[in-house]
Amino acid sequence: MTGPTGTPPEGGPLPGAREDAPLLEVRDITRSFGGVRAVQGVSFAVRPGSARAIIGPNGAGKTTVLDMITGFTRPDGGTIVLDGRDITGLPPHRLPARGLMRTFQSARLVPLLTVRENVMLGAHRFTRSRFLSDGLRLPRARREERALRERADALLDFLGLAAFADRHAADLPAGAQRLVEVARGLAGGPRVLLLDEPAAGLDDTETAELADVLRAVHASGVALVLIEHNIDLVMKVSDRVLVLDAGTVLADGTPAEVRADPAVIEAYLGAAA
Ligand SMILES: Nc1ncnc2c1ncn2[C@@H]1O[C@H](COP(=O)(O)OP(=O)(O)O)[C@@H](O)[C@H]1O
Ligand SMILES: [Mg+2]
Repeated sequence: MTGPTGTPPEGGPLPGAREDAPLLEVRDITRSFGGVRAVQGVSFAVRPGSARAIIGPNGAGKTTVLDMITGFTRPDGGTIVLDGRDITGLPPHRLPARGLMRTFQSARLVPLLTVRENVMLGAHRFTRSRFLSDGLRLPRARREERALRERADALLDFLGLAAFADRHAADLPAGAQRLVEVARGLAGGPRVLLLDEPAAGLDDTETAELADVLRAVHASGVALVLIEHNIDLVMKVSDRVLVLDAGTVLADGTPAEVRADPAVIEAYLGAAA
């Protein structure tokens, strides 16, 4: 793997987007499962092109927050606003068209498809008409297919994965599979990519490669929301850190601020050291 190369593919923020207005706003969201109050009144904002980490001990509510933003879990209360529009409770398949994509805590690549095909799947919102027209071999379907393929190849090149394009996803090492997931998440040209523990199961070298890729993605103008246990990765990649503990916000600040916060050291960093 050669790491990120070349110029960022298209699909970043629109020119002229207001720098100061948040792209994503989470306002006072709450969710219980039976008697467990998994998330209680969590609020934070993500500015266009910024990189926001969410950290906290196991069970703190991180994945539940991501699931609520991405429509996999409905909040009991609170509001989620994307680009000034209320997206609370929208189903997951409606969100890519609004510029929001996610990756999962465990890889969800299709093992028997090639790496290129997996990445192409991430852009399927562009090809609604495809399944209908495919069988008829309409010129439009062929054009769409070619455009998807070119975009997938550009992304694989950008993330240093070009050599893997024709391999089956299942044959790749864990680190490369994780990067392919990132490529798939970028295929639809999102403005914000949410990642749930992307370094889980990766060794130090793979984690360092992932950090390079995430920084390149961030530099290309895509906002990141990153749930992560690996503090090194958090410090390298993010510009704001939200610390959750037992479903509530313990701290919200720059990596340096959060690292120096006595409550955080006590509850999380101290425990992990
Ligand atoms: N689908 C669910 N059903 C029941 N309890 C859940 C469910 N999802 C999460 N929880 C509970 O909510 C809490 C927060 O979980 P989660 O958001 O997965 O935490 P984290 O990702 O920070 O480890 C935990 O106590 C967990 O057991
Ligand atoms: Mg989790």
